[in-house]
Amino acid sequence: MKMKKLLPISVAVATIGLSSSNIFAAEKLNVICSASIDWCQLMVNEFEKETGVNVKMTRKSSGETFAQLRAEKRNPKVDVWWGGTGDPHLQAAEEGITYKYQSPNLNKLQKWASNQAEQSDFRTVGVYAGGLGIAYNHDILKKKGLPAPKGWEDLTNPAYKGEVQMANPNSSGTAYTALATIMQVFGEEKGFEYMKKLHKNINQYTKSGSAPVKSAARGENTIGIVFMHDAVKQAVKGFPITVVAPVEGTGYEVGSMSIVKGARNLDNAKKWYEFALRADTQTKAAQAKAFQVPSNLSATAPKEAPRLEDIKLIDYDFKTFGASDTRKRLLAKWDTDVKPIPR
Ligand code: F6P
Repeated sequence: MKMKKLLPISVAVATIGLSSSNIFAAEKLNVICSASIDWCQLMVNEFEKETGVNVKMTRKSSGETFAQLRAEKRNPKVDVWWGGTGDPHLQAAEEGITYKYQSPNLNKLQKWASNQAEQSDFRTVGVYAGGLGIAYNHDILKKKGLPAPKGWEDLTNPAYKGEVQMANPNSSGTAYTALATIMQVFGEEKGFEYMKKLHKNINQYTKSGSAPVKSAARGENTIGIVFMHDAVKQAVKGFPITVVAPVEGTGYEVGSMSIVKGARNLDNAKKWYEFALRADTQTKAAQAKAFQVPSNLSATAPKEAPRLEDIKLIDYDFKTFGASDTRKRLLAKWDTDVKPIPR
């Protein structure tokens, strides 16, 4: 009878040890990123280099991400949601989709960033801020003999028919910020009348918030309702883009970060969280031409970043407009009363 050769005990133990350590060596993190793709990629590269953790990242707009996380609530696949406008992060917190985590570094942040944490019972935190604005291609405007818009009211001028672009507020956090801003500047009744007039001038509602200024930069659109930092990015790249802070006053975002409740890679999610709040990490945003205001008090803002102090900001009501009920109600009204009107 042939005898099966037995491994000496020491070799067998070493083999088991090796295979189990291999399993744990595959450190992973799943990130959804709602900032610009080049900044998302830079963050991933830097984090992987520093920690050896393997990051799987997807870029999705803020509203789309919120919808995905809500759909996956019982079986979460994402660990961290980094970037994107603060309102849907607050809504995710309210709906118990995100995890309560109080960073020991909150005292190193701007007030608007730590407020975001306190307001959500520490389920989200601010990582950057930026004002909403209007951007236009000044070459096209001149060629078409159109006036330069100075504020929200101007955008309803019938001379701009087919010349204005904004994103869809269901998918995009930028566009939801625009909708919420209009409601706060004009009041809800007049605000919806405004949205209907504006709709007549809209050539397309895009999925992502920065798309309208990217197409204006390429000469495929004239005016965009976008965050000012996204417009500055195109101007810095050399495109004929002028950036306007609306005269009536404007809203702003507290770009945020949240850990998903039930994250499978919770320790790595916390590592990312602390990494993303650090001053040196936030200062690197300039390398990706991301011109938001950083939330860490010691981070250096790129010199091109529009300063919030220079913009006429409204006292944006994050409590109301970051609430799930408000979001559902405003989007449902926009979907039924504005979007279907023939243009
Ligand atoms: O492009 C960057 C940025 O404007 C962020 O500042 C913002 O949080 C995010 O995009 C919003 O993107 P979206 O409107 O596609 O949700």
